[in-house]
Amino acid sequence: MKDKLSKIKKDFESSLKKIADLDSLEELYNEYFSRKAGEMTNIMKSLKELSGEERKEMGALANTIKTAMEELFENSKKTLENNKWETLLETEKIDITQAKLPVERKGHLHPVTLVQNDLEDFFTSMGFMLLDGPELESEFYNFEAVNIPDDHPARDMQDTFYIKNRDNLVMRTHTSSVQVRAMQKYGAPLRMIVPGKVFRNEATDPRHEHTFHQLEGVVIDKNITFGDMKGVIERMVKHLYGEDTQVKLRPKFYPFVEPGVNGEVTCFLCKGSGCRVCKNTGWLEIFGAGMIHPNVLKAGNIDPKEYQGFAFGFGLTRLVMLKYGIEDIRHLESGNLKFLQQF
Ligand code: PHE
Repeated sequence: MKDKLSKIKKDFESSLKKIADLDSLEELYNEYFSRKAGEMTNIMKSLKELSGEERKEMGALANTIKTAMEELFENSKKTLENNKWETLLETEKIDITQAKLPVERKGHLHPVTLVQNDLEDFFTSMGFMLLDGPELESEFYNFEAVNIPDDHPARDMQDTFYIKNRDNLVMRTHTSSVQVRAMQKYGAPLRMIVPGKVFRNEATDPRHEHTFHQLEGVVIDKNITFGDMKGVIERMVKHLYGEDTQVKLRPKFYPFVEPGVNGEVTCFLCKGSGCRVCKNTGWLEIFGAGMIHPNVLKAGNIDPKEYQGFAFGFGLTRLVMLKYGIEDIRHLESGNLKFLQQF
């Protein structure tokens, strides 16, 4: 029995030396101490069969050896656990000198908002008020007030969304609907811009959308001339597309201006020589403008004999499409993140 015990201890010790991880240590422990079949457990059980003195002596010896083995076990368990933390510290080490990883952007401004903000800054720096008006508008402000009577063919020029069961309400078809509202509220002299959403009942395609943005401008004062209008518009397009940009005005009929013009600027991409963006014409059509019709001033309670003014309407959506080379207007209202994340 004595020999058996010292052999067990020796075997245990030499096996222990070979152990490199906690799992195999656990296995080894069970080999010797498991309740059912552990070698040491069996020895302890077999002590019962011994008699008297021998049982006492062997019992004491077995206990000393058992305690010693358990101590060895605990020690190597501690060492292995320490090693485990050390390797973890090594493998999970954080390199604080590493460059920052890219973080997904939380959100940003819509391209229309970017261009709108830029133009708001431009016009407010020249003393223009920044106004807005209702998108659901009365037929009066959208049409009659700006000199488009009920039976006027110009109503057909702008396909209108009418509101069911509400005879006198429409989704505004242009920001010109704010002209007379502003005149009534602030009177003359007046210098204001209105950026905003407008709506047209159109079959949509890459160049037409039911919802788009315009930027309206109005200047009313004594002795305002067509030259003042051209000057303001020129400053704006040079701000947008560079100092060498030229403006071309061609007569166009709008009921609320007289004379009225349709405005083109030299293509910012090809500088007038013709390219894909300007469809080889060298010019981009981006606004309508003109001297405010006396009937419109009257509707705004302003005396046309005392005051004159001009108005212009930029296709804000068109400016955005040209600036960023957007080929289909429908992207802008789509809410498609793949599109929006490019800005
Ligand atoms: N309201 C016109 C449109 O939507 C644009 C315009 C504004 C023209 C002001 C002249 C003066 O087409």
